[in-house]
Amino acid sequence: MSNNPLCSFLLVVNSEENVVTVRPADTLLYALRIHLGLTGSKPGCLNGDCGACTVLVDGTPMKSCLMLAVEGEEKAITTIEGLKNTPIQKAFVKHFAFQCGYCTPGFIMNCHALVHTEKDADETVIKDWLESNICRCTGYKEIREAVISVLHKLKKNE
Ligand code: FES
Ligand code: FES
Repeated sequence: MSNNPLCSFLLVVNSEENVVTVRPADTLLYALRIHLGLTGSKPGCLNGDCGACTVLVDGTPMKSCLMLAVEGEEKAITTIEGLKNTPIQKAFVKHFAFQCGYCTPGFIMNCHALVHTEKDADETVIKDWLESNICRCTGYKEIREAVISVLHKLKKNE
């Protein structure tokens, strides 16, 4: 990167390479939505509380409103657009684990990482993980059921 007020670099999102030119203070969320048109990650609180903006960075859930776009260089970023037809997406549909389109992408991202990171997750572990995402209008029961169903499926396939 140069001292130029704009920085250009390679951002790998959902396995696609993109050269983006951003201001140094632009967040990853802003770059994804405005520069790449990936609007699945939602701007909610913009201060790290709600989880609506959650993406995966090298497989780890991160709140993209708290991360600078430039910090995404040389990392593998996954957004909700990259999770089409995954077991967790299907489980959310099957278990009615969603209502609005605002919090749901963040929940799915977080739960996708959860089922791949904590294969033996029990209710407590699942509850802990879900604390990083906020839904104001429904319970978390269906979301937990969706997660458990995927964990069972993954176990069966081991
Ligand atoms: S918008 Fe990022 S945590 Fe709420
Ligand atoms: S269903 Fe999205 S905030 Fe409640």
